Order: sequence, then structure tokens, then C-alpha cells
Amino acid sequence: MKTDFKIAVLAGDGIGPEVVNESIKILDAIAEAFHYKFEFKQALVGAEAIFQTGNPLPDETLAICKESDAVLFGAIGDPSFDNNPDAKVRPEQGLLKLRKELGLFANIRPLKTYSSLIEKSPLKKEIIDGTDIQIFRELVSGIYFGEKFTDEEAGYAYDICKYNRDEITPIVHMAFQEAQKRRKKLTLIDKANVLDTSRLWRKVCKEIAAEYPDVELDFMFVDNAAMQLILNPKQFDVIVTENMFGDIISDEASVIGGSIGLLPSASIGNDNAMFEPIHGSYPQAKGKGIANPIASILSTAMMLDYLKLDHAAEKLRESVEHAIENKYVTIDLNAEQPYSTSEVGSFIVDYIKYSEKSYYNFENVKIGKSTIV
Ligand code: IPM
Ligand code: MN
Repeated sequence: MKTDFKIAVLAGDGIGPEVVNESIKILDAIAEAFHYKFEFKQALVGAEAIFQTGNPLPDETLAICKESDAVLFGAIGDPSFDNNPDAKVRPEQGLLKLRKELGLFANIRPLKTYSSLIEKSPLKKEIIDGTDIQIFRELVSGIYFGEKFTDEEAGYAYDICKYNRDEITPIVHMAFQEAQKRRKKLTLIDKANVLDTSRLWRKVCKEIAAEYPDVELDFMFVDNAAMQLILNPKQFDVIVTENMFGDIISDEASVIGGSIGLLPSASIGNDNAMFEPIHGSYPQAKGKGIANPIASILSTAMMLDYLKLDHAAEKLRESVEHAIENKYVTIDLNAEQPYSTSEVGSFIVDYIKYSEKSYYNFENVKIGKSTIV
């Protein structure tokens, strides 16, 4: 069994470095507890890379990612670019190029609710309690990567959405296989009443469905899906969808769990994989120690799954659940007694290291005491 891993760390912008730092702390604890070795290589991406090199994805960064077993990614984006539609070079281009160059065709975004956070959601408890959805978003094609054109003078622009069978087939297989392991239901979200690309997705899904007779396949138009996610999220098991619909509905779905700061993602290709929170760079919180590190930490758990370190992944998830259930969380989830980004990370580190040792009393943390009796 492989136990030594090279991890590229692309902390990126805003709160990216703070949350990724907690994931590194946790991987160090896991390395110690399970006798693995993680070698980290930091590299520049996004606005930070533009400021330092002029390029949102320097060649060196790409090379480091390609040589690694996995990439841990923080966040991307900076207000100085968001407010300037004329900027030719943008931080997000770095992320999009990285996804394309690494061939990360499947973006997996799991979503579930935690009983202790159920009140945090703007939706009613009875609607969301027990929600458990896996979104499979196609990540390297569609309107994000089709031909783009702007004629400034004429005030004219377009973005083309294109798909071919080979871009649809692999992610649809992945989604069916995931559904087989779960509640055996797959929903394709599309706009087949209007778009040719959606009709192609439907056709390909129907053909592939024959290979998975135990999975029920259904179809839903994206506008209706946006509504159904809020009305009755429990009807969904696995969702598969194209790039832009996946971007939009996964942000929408994130409110179900109470905080976008909880949601991890994995972007998987044939030879590479990258793990990142679904949240953005949250520049207002940068450097304040208030950002929720759990999305990054759960992305790290998905990385451990990918590296086939199943016991470590399980232990990490158990530790995160313990932190959440004991309200050892940041201000977005506990305004009365908030803990800082690094306190939450350290609590999870302690749990990984000591939860099986009887001289630690983790119940004490509920009342804010030290974890040591
Ligand atoms: C995401 C983000 C990115 C996307 C941006 C930063 C380009 O919103 O990962 O969901 O649209 O894919
Ligand atoms: Mn998004």
C-alpha cells in the first residue's frame, strides 16, 4: 500500500491560505497517527499569482500539480478584479485553466445536513432534515470553455455552449456508479425543452442507463430543479449536470446545510485530482481568523478517499462531526460562542490524536474548557 504522497498546495486568494493551513495541520496529524507521509509543495495561483508574476496560473504551478498525487486548493478571486469588467487577466482564469490542463472532468459536491446545525438553515427543519445529495458537475466543457467573443465597439458578445458524447459519457458513468452505492436514484438536470446540448445529455444518459438497470434515472429542467431543491431536497440522491447548471445549483443547494462554509468538493480526472471548498475567497474575512475551515477540511477527507486512505478519511469525518455536534465551530455557525479558524482546526487535530486515549475528556469543550482533564 502506498503511504508516501506528494501534495500540491495552492492556497490562492482571500481566506484560501487560512483554511488550507488548517487542512495541512490536520494532514500532519493524520500522517503521525496513521504512519503516512505527506510532502507539501506550495504554489501560486489566482490574484496572488497575478500580483507576483502577471499570470494567474504560472507554468511552475501547473508542473507542481502534474507531479503531485493530489492538489489541495484554497480559494480564488479578488474584488479588484470583480469590479473591473475590462481586466484582461483575471484570477478565475487560473482555476479554469488548471481544471482543463489537469483534465478534471468531474466535480463532486456532496451535501448533507447536520442535526446540530439544522436551525442555521433559512429553510424549515422538516423540509431539510435528512437531506443527503451528491452533485456531479461536468467541469471542463460547456459554456465555460466554448468559443468566446466580444466586439467592444458594436457592443456585441457571445459564449458558445458545446458538448460531445465523449465529454458527457465518463461523468454520467461515475454518477450512475455512485447512485448504485447509495439510494439508486440519478437525476439529470438540464434544459432539454430549449437547448440542443441538453437533448444530447438526455440521449447519452438514457443509453448509459441500460448498463445500470438497478438505478432509477429521471430528468428535471433546471428551472424546476432550482425550485425543487428548496421545496423538497430529500427527493434527490445523485444529480448529474453540465458545467454552468452545476455551478449555480450547487451554490443554491449549499444553503440547505446552513453554511456554504461546510461544503467540500473533489474534482477528478483520469490522472489528476484536486480538492477545494465550494466557497469563494471571502475577501472581507481575510486575515481575521473567522473563516470556517470545515469545507477545506472535508475536501481533505475527500482527498484521503481518493488516495485510498479509507481509515484516515473515516477518522477525519468522525472528528469533524464531533466538532460540529459539540458546536466547536466558527462564527457563521455559532455566533454566541464562536471559535477561530485555527481553534476549530486544532480541535479536530486533537480529536484525531487523542480521542482514543482515556485521559482526554472531549465533553469539556462544550463549556469552553481545555480538552485536557
Ligand atoms: C466554483 C466557482 C468557479 C466556477 C469560479 C471561481 C470560476 O464559482 O468553483 O464553483 O464558476 O466554477
Ligand atoms: Mn461556483
